[in-house]
Amino acid sequence: MTQLLSPLKIRALELKNRLVMSPMCQYSAIDGMPGLWHDMHYGARAQGGVGLVMLESTAVSPQGRISPSCLGLWSQQHLEAHARLAERLHALGSAAGVQLNHAGRKGSHSAPWQGGAPLPIAQGGWVRTAPSASGPGMDVSPIQALSTQDIAAIVDDFRQAALRAVEAGFDVIELHAAHGYLLHQFLSPLANQRTDAYGGDFDGRARLTLEVAQTVREAIPDTMPLFVRLSCVDSKESNEGWTLEESIALARKLQAIGVDLLDCTSGGISAPPTKREGAFNADLARAVRTQTGLPTGSVGGIDSLALAESLLSDGACDLIFAGRALLRDPYWLIRQTAPQGAGLVPPQYARAGF
Ligand SMILES: Cc1cc2nc3c(=O)[nH]c(=O)nc-3n(C[C@H](O)[C@H](O)[C@H](O)COP(=O)(O)O)c2cc1C
Repeated sequence: MTQLLSPLKIRALELKNRLVMSPMCQYSAIDGMPGLWHDMHYGARAQGGVGLVMLESTAVSPQGRISPSCLGLWSQQHLEAHARLAERLHALGSAAGVQLNHAGRKGSHSAPWQGGAPLPIAQGGWVRTAPSASGPGMDVSPIQALSTQDIAAIVDDFRQAALRAVEAGFDVIELHAAHGYLLHQFLSPLANQRTDAYGGDFDGRARLTLEVAQTVREAIPDTMPLFVRLSCVDSKESNEGWTLEESIALARKLQAIGVDLLDCTSGGISAPPTKREGAFNADLARAVRTQTGLPTGSVGGIDSLALAESLLSDGACDLIFAGRALLRDPYWLIRQTAPQGAGLVPPQYARAGF
């Protein structure tokens, strides 16, 4: 049987196959609320047979947004709108996940098609917060270092957003500790210059991610899977910044807390990865999985069934996260797995002959 089409049980959740729609910002929310775009965009991938549709980066507070048009889960109103979306995804046959995030110093930006640059307060931006008062674009939009009270409030924002995600009916929560956002900023010595308990050595830099993971794990039901997306290295070209050895040490601690899967990616604090094709993060997922026993997801450049099959069967990962392939084609899974995937074709579309 095709590995990609094989089911997977994580805690009480039974995924019908191993394909996850990778979280991808749509910059199409109004005041953090999902709307028509999100129904259509995520609904189409659920119709396309994706086992788990993971919603894009969803902010735990208004200040935690990347842009003014990011999704959020910081109020009852957001909970209700997300509940409608989760229900629709379930009705279309997919499990639904949400990626909780705080953007930190990567917040207060315009959408990519509006320049993707730091947004001054006069243009709808906000004061950015981060482990240290440093980072790109400070001349345009200020960055303040977080106090320990601010950090405690952010941990609580994650807890409350997680509780809302549970109540909204999501099946999986993913904590975003990758791509240069707040949790990653604390992990990486390239962004974290603190001298208190949240900076310095590995234990200090890892403290916030572990506190958030532990707090969320304790808040959500035992039956619900918790994933963490981690940039396993800051750079694939050099050993500068956060390293794979540190990721493996962190993975062991996350596993002890009850995190179920590490979604392995790379980069985001400094320069983007130079290689974007050919399963370019699979080596990281494989290293974490073989050295810790923690299940992994692999993301990045997985754009063919053959590639997905080889990663699943050689033990690199348990789940395949696909991003751009699913943007290009919501029916990517059905087309790649034909004819075995015929069972995923919606009956309304059967005459199309996938
Ligand atoms: C339009 C777009 C938006 C993205 N937004 C997010 C996001 O919200 N959260 C995240 O963790 N990664 C985000 N990513 C990264 C993807 O999830 C994925 O890791 C990356 O595109 C590599 O996988 P791929 O080669 O399958 O596209 C985004 C990527 C794209 C193309």
